[in-house]
Amino acid sequence: MTKIAVENYQLAFYGNKVLKSRAKEVTEITQEIIELVDAMFQVMYRERGIGLAAPQITIPKRIIVVDLSAYKGPSLALVNPEIVRSSDNLVSYEEGCLSIPGIMRDVLRPDEIAIKGINLDGKEVRFDADGLLARVLQHEIDHLNGILFIDRLEPHVRRELTSELKRIKKLNRT
Ligand code: NI
Repeated sequence: MTKIAVENYQLAFYGNKVLKSRAKEVTEITQEIIELVDAMFQVMYRERGIGLAAPQITIPKRIIVVDLSAYKGPSLALVNPEIVRSSDNLVSYEEGCLSIPGIMRDVLRPDEIAIKGINLDGKEVRFDADGLLARVLQHEIDHLNGILFIDRLEPHVRRELTSELKRIKKLNRT
């Protein structure tokens, strides 16, 4: 992989097939991966997001970054993240996505999860998350599985978005 300057990383928007595909496992934490994570943080800050998955910058790898420091939460990067347990209790919370700009909708998800993944030292980490952190982690891990939050809406709610989604699709550079 040639090094790409951060300003040249473009967001993938709704309609880009990288967002509908299952991203690939990372087999080793190389310098390349560390630089990619750094670029992901920079793109996330540039776009004023609180989470980003690698497919959103058109890189089909299982990597996510989250920064909830504005909400007194953690800042973290996780490689090959997996949800190992989800609570039965579902909560509704308004979500948005840098890949679907201008659309916010309530999405129902488990309120607590247990997560495992690999950190940038190559070590396995496991932790429980609730509240906003659980929400963002589930949203970002969905991206690694080709799922967007709009895919989790009731069909009639999703249908209301048709014309807006058509507009967003055009933001992808061909
Ligand atoms: Ni998103």
